[in-house]
Amino acid sequence: MMPPYWSLGFHLCRWGLPDVQWNDLDYADKRRVFTFDPQRFVDLPDMVKEFHQKGMKYILILDPGISSTSPPGTYPPFDEGQRRGVFIRNSTGQTLLGKVWPGPTAFPDFTNPETQSWWEDCIREFHSRVPLDGLWIDMNEPASFVQGSVEGCPDSDLDSPPYVPPVIGGQLNTGTLCMSAQQNLSTHYNLHNLYGLTEASATHSALVKVRGSRPFVLSRSSFPGIGRFSGVWTGDVRSDWEQLRYSIPAVLLFGLFGVPLVGADVCGFGGDTTEELCVRWTQLGAFYPFMRNHNDKPNAPQEPYVFGQEAQTAMRSAVMLRYSLLPFLYTLFYHAHTSADTVATPLFLQFPSDPNCQTIDRQFLWGSSLLVSPVLEQGAVELAAYLPPGTWYSLHNGQPFYSKGQYLLLPAPLDTINVHVREGHIIPQQEPGLTTSASRSNPFLLTVALSAGGWAWGDLFWDDGDSLDTFQRGDYSYVIFIAGQVGDVENGALDGLVLGGLRVFGVPSPPRYVWANGKKVWDFSYQTDTKVSCSCLRYLYRVQN
Ligand code: NOJ
Repeated sequence: MMPPYWSLGFHLCRWGLPDVQWNDLDYADKRRVFTFDPQRFVDLPDMVKEFHQKGMKYILILDPGISSTSPPGTYPPFDEGQRRGVFIRNSTGQTLLGKVWPGPTAFPDFTNPETQSWWEDCIREFHSRVPLDGLWIDMNEPASFVQGSVEGCPDSDLDSPPYVPPVIGGQLNTGTLCMSAQQNLSTHYNLHNLYGLTEASATHSALVKVRGSRPFVLSRSSFPGIGRFSGVWTGDVRSDWEQLRYSIPAVLLFGLFGVPLVGADVCGFGGDTTEELCVRWTQLGAFYPFMRNHNDKPNAPQEPYVFGQEAQTAMRSAVMLRYSLLPFLYTLFYHAHTSADTVATPLFLQFPSDPNCQTIDRQFLWGSSLLVSPVLEQGAVELAAYLPPGTWYSLHNGQPFYSKGQYLLLPAPLDTINVHVREGHIIPQQEPGLTTSASRSNPFLLTVALSAGGWAWGDLFWDDGDSLDTFQRGDYSYVIFIAGQVGDVENGALDGLVLGGLRVFGVPSPPRYVWANGKKVWDFSYQTDTKVSCSCLRYLYRVQN
């Protein structure tokens, strides 16, 4: 799927917060989905409208388990669901009840077309009261706090097969439903691993119909193919340095599985984070394709504003760096959408013949051109980063490194994440704003990293960021930038886009003059030491078709 532009911003969430842009289960009345707490969240609809007025979005959690114990006639999702026969049944044909946050719950069978339309009705009805922008589908393995069901499971071959892999709890139905449960397509034994996928598909399609614009769905359970409908987060990671490190291979793997919109909970979910860990995690998280700071209920707060000034400055600069790169990130998603490219990319995919790259899981690329080398060790203020053969330029100041394929020791004080641009590439950027919608209307900036032969290439996919199927309908612009030649524009509706500046890395000698749109631009600079030439954000001139 092509994600909405706004979903690439920085998301802030936690379990146990009364009023944020994301809401965990705290919004729900007695933890029942499709309701909101009449005391603490009585003004939820107004709150969401206020977010929208500020150009912000609202996402809330949606668990699949539907509470089964409300008095009849008081909780339509269950009553209607029963009437329409949408729930998974036990082996004798009754609605199977497990237990999740609200207590006993029934589980929708998303392989049943009637369930898909009931789910859409529930979302439509809730959306008419609370105009949410996206849904976070959790607990969809499906997870249950009792083994199999509240009544246990029959003694069947499916629940106790002759060979059981070493799963937690020793039984296939530990922490989930009976394997002998019946779904529309087959037994739960055959469908268990598809539960999250089928829920993501139903939720995506409901949001398309209810909102009429690009859906955002984030799922915990996943299966190959889910990238068509949903992003994925890596679940309940602990707030420690080891899990910070493991998050890189997790994110890279999901990219290879066709799920480019992925990230781990920034600063960690379980346990208390520390200021240093949270700064380093925010720096790495600024380069997760999906960036969300999320925290468990009992833990110390970890929103950026709770930390000291030095930490806040470091986090702010990481988030601003991400926002300045959103046009580039969005273009990478366009390539993932149309050609199954990766967004966060392991080095070995770009440098398959370099044996050093095969095992690197502490660094990664965005697309083919931006190398991200985060600090992953407590107390470290420098970092041994591998630079594959070629010239790499620091994104911050254009300082070049000519690498034969070697590790370099780079300074990495607390306020720094090392990011390098690969020679021969052009990165479209934008002045960052406070929201993605503010950023989108700021002037563009091109960072041009010349190859030794003075050549570079880059591209930009641009549309309104929110409409459905813009690529399929041709309602977009695609621009190719080429250093040293005239570039190309496809579907050139670029009115309103402004190029505000240009940085060229690797210019061998000071330019005598700079031309733009047929006029000399006098306000440019050249740095002899780094060989960076810049005409940055002083002159605003229109991109001409
Ligand atoms: C489990 C999820 O993984 C976590 O992110 C969430 O905060 C809790 N459920 C509560 O809804």
